Amino acid sequence: MPTSSTSFEILPSNQPTADSIRDNILASPGFGKYFTDHMVNIRWTVNADWHGHQVRPYGPLTLDPAASVLHYGQEIFEGIKAYRHADGSVWTFRPEKNAERLRKSARRLALPELSDDDFIGSLKSLLAQDHAWVPAPQSDADECSLYLRPFMIATEAFLGVRPAHEVDYYVIASPAASYFKGGVSPVSIWLSSHYKRAAAGGTGFAKCGGNYAASLAAQKEAEAHGCGQVAFLDAAESKWIEELGGMNLFFVFKDGRLVTPRLTDTILEGVTRNSVLTLAKDMGLTPEERPISIDEWREGAASGEITEVFACGTAAVITPVGELVTENERIRVNGEGGCEVAMRIRKTLLDIQYGRSEDKHGWLTQL
Ligand code: COI
Repeated sequence: MPTSSTSFEILPSNQPTADSIRDNILASPGFGKYFTDHMVNIRWTVNADWHGHQVRPYGPLTLDPAASVLHYGQEIFEGIKAYRHADGSVWTFRPEKNAERLRKSARRLALPELSDDDFIGSLKSLLAQDHAWVPAPQSDADECSLYLRPFMIATEAFLGVRPAHEVDYYVIASPAASYFKGGVSPVSIWLSSHYKRAAAGGTGFAKCGGNYAASLAAQKEAEAHGCGQVAFLDAAESKWIEELGGMNLFFVFKDGRLVTPRLTDTILEGVTRNSVLTLAKDMGLTPEERPISIDEWREGAASGEITEVFACGTAAVITPVGELVTENERIRVNGEGGCEVAMRIRKTLLDIQYGRSEDKHGWLTQL
């Protein structure tokens, strides 16, 4: 595998976005709508490993219509953010965790593994060109960032079903505000009774497009019921809470326990999830990773044992859940205390990411 000494060829855009247009975008970027001037590409071929490291102008890809990603979905991706600190410097959060997860996903999808050096090098090389696209937060509650989307696709033109011999890795970047339109206000969650996201032995733990495609019919159902996200139960018993379409879930108990479903091969190991477990301990809470059933949610919310529920992820940061909606019930959460614990964890996390508090765990990497 190439090492950190691998340099990226830079092909600068000859039509970069005008400063005034970029400033307008950064003032109100939404999520995933606008893209920076450049992107990274690294090629892999079965006989030549990773090569052709490049930063080039952002633009459409030329793909053969027979490219295997278009037919068999051999694809994986990551989500990671770049944060601007008060002194203007730009940092990212635990990139080695994303690099490790990309390799885990690659093994499951029979794609080639990319080294930490190439992964982190790709982010640094892109940011060297597009650093002006990282928005500056306007307040401590502002979660604006540059959302980075590394992804890997099978580009070999071949219709036989086998791992592709040609693969491309890209990174694109998109300035982002909060993922949910309502910002940090509590989101309603739809409980999918019919659809399942993942089954044992499948790809649930991998960050691959297919998992997200499989969640969309349920997401449509959620939207039809006025909900912003879907909660999925396990495929075997329809009993255990797994995760949302693209976020992990946490339950705050009255006695200070903070419970999240334990990882199985049907749950994506979120970097934010992992960080929340560490921060919770620092904050005197008692984190627990264990199976949690839909009945425990229902009964805990009714009895007041469960005082808050929140979703977390790179895109979602920490977003309180207001209610769980099913065909015939609405389970309210976030009782009298509102979402105090979720908001405290959120602030602790954001303060580290934006350099406002000490990075005790060594989680930040300068880009
Ligand atoms: C992320 O949090 O980075 C994701 O990939 C989830 C997606 C819903 C945007």
